[in-house]
Amino acid sequence: MDTVSLYYEERGSGTPVVLLHGFPLDHTIWNPVVPLLEIHARLILPDLRGHGKSPLGQANSIREMAEDVAVLLDMLDIPRAILVGHSMGGYVALAFARAHPHRLAGLGLVASQAESDTPEKQRGRYNTAADVRKHGLRKLAEGMSQKLSAQPGLVETIRQIILQANPAGVVSALAAMAERPDATDWLGEIRVPAVVIAGEADALMPPDRAVTLEQLLPHSWRVSLPGVGHLPMMEAPEQTAHPLVELIQSEQNHQAM
Ligand code: MLT
Repeated sequence: MDTVSLYYEERGSGTPVVLLHGFPLDHTIWNPVVPLLEIHARLILPDLRGHGKSPLGQANSIREMAEDVAVLLDMLDIPRAILVGHSMGGYVALAFARAHPHRLAGLGLVASQAESDTPEKQRGRYNTAADVRKHGLRKLAEGMSQKLSAQPGLVETIRQIILQANPAGVVSALAAMAERPDATDWLGEIRVPAVVIAGEADALMPPDRAVTLEQLLPHSWRVSLPGVGHLPMMEAPEQTAHPLVELIQSEQNHQAM
């Protein structure tokens, strides 16, 4: 397996919680919830391979992205952690859960899903990848920044994050997402507490995806945020942090028993 050494930042202390950003963003999307979570836990905020300040590596798959996270936890000497994944970061968290079930202490899925891509969705991703290869990130940044947030005030911030992305990383992540396996048939094996957070105004993730996650994850609960789009951590930081604190506290109570 091809692994890379991820750029990461750290805040707080105690129960380790890894916050994984979505496509084609970086760890800074979590900034609005960091002050609300760092008083409860040790936050580890990586940039996934090919995103933010992390290198891309030779190959790429969601499984390899998950292995990068395992290597980062090894480097930090952390045997078990809560993983919270936003959208593509959720795909990575699920791949980690499958490969390293004993290292997962809890799971948060924000605006994410377990289903793999339809052939039509895959075609769309490969068309976008071809466009980015030819013309760079401008078109993707225009289109995605409008769709990512239900709040017009956030569009420019998001556009800037996307424009600073590594085009090769973006192309590679599109292929990694297109080829990711379906996770619905093994979600029942995830034995840790899991919270599913979804915005009701999410233009990128169909609302039934969160319902499926809640139905198939044995120890899960779902939080549905009215008027919130694809970026709950930026659009509604307090409503997003609250269930994540509950997840952290359930792990802390479990440890204390
Ligand atoms: C993301 O936000 O990570 C992506 O929109 C996920 C996807 O395209 O499947």
